[in-house]
Amino acid sequence: MAQTQHKVIAVCGKGGVGKTAVTTLLTRALKGKDETGRLLVVDADPALGLLYALNVRTDKTIGAVRDRVLAAAESGNAGEQCEVADELDYLITSSLQEEKDYAFLAMGHMDSKGCFCSVNKLLREALEQLVDKFDTVLIDGEAGIEQINRQVVEKVNTLVIVTDSSYRGVQTVHHIAGLIEAGNVPACEKVGVLFNRIQGDTRTLEELEKAAGLPVFGVIDFDPVLAQFDAQARSLLDLPDDAVSVKAIEGVLAKL
Ligand SMILES: Nc1ncnc2c1ncn2[C@@H]1O[C@H](COP(=O)(O)OP(=O)(O)OP(=O)(O)O)[C@@H](O)[C@H]1O
Ligand SMILES: [Mg+2]
Repeated sequence: MAQTQHKVIAVCGKGGVGKTAVTTLLTRALKGKDETGRLLVVDADPALGLLYALNVRTDKTIGAVRDRVLAAAESGNAGEQCEVADELDYLITSSLQEEKDYAFLAMGHMDSKGCFCSVNKLLREALEQLVDKFDTVLIDGEAGIEQINRQVVEKVNTLVIVTDSSYRGVQTVHHIAGLIEAGNVPACEKVGVLFNRIQGDTRTLEELEKAAGLPVFGVIDFDPVLAQFDAQARSLLDLPDDAVSVKAIEGVLAKL
């Protein structure tokens, strides 16, 4: 597979397994490091969970840009369409929220009203250009892989599949592995599983690897401190260095 200079990491998996928590832990570990370079963190979930976990305050989304493009397309006004097409790069770039040590981009709502394939294509291309302006891109995906698939999948070269110990979580890992095998993540160079929120699972790493059918990037135990931060709506970026989850993510990062 072709080597890419940008690291584009997508975090995916079944609903509720901890994708957003893992993305935040990875952001915490990556930001401000020389090897990371310029970091873009993307919330690809319309529910905007990552926005809250990172405590980012913005109402700008790519979805809003898409609505603007759709409105121009629907207007049938050629002048307006050209204007929006010319401005697209600018519109996308201004959706970025600059935070300390990283830029944040929320995809927002991406409902498809009828078939607007050309609009989606336009947006995907614009997003791809944006991704190229960063050294490291971290994407918190929606449950499953469909949305990442449609939007930025072409550039994803590292896939972190998060699961809990549950049978259904692991079934989703197999499902995603099948999609990768079928070529749905064409630039994928590295894929592995991250077991998260583990409690009372006595399986060895080898046994977990066998169950997942993929290399295991790491195991994060249930972290009461993380759970408490979440319950108190505190940003997971502020987790203490000695939190179980923070320590575990360092080992994961080494494998990415
Ligand atoms: N290692 C962990 N220890 C304790 N609690 C955790 C851990 N990881 C995640 N959680 C908690 O589990 C819940 C679900 O996590 P999270 O929102 O990150 O999942 P998700 O996969 O992003 O969900 P969704 O599919 O809805 O986007 C949250 O309440 C979070 O605080
Ligand atoms: Mg989430």
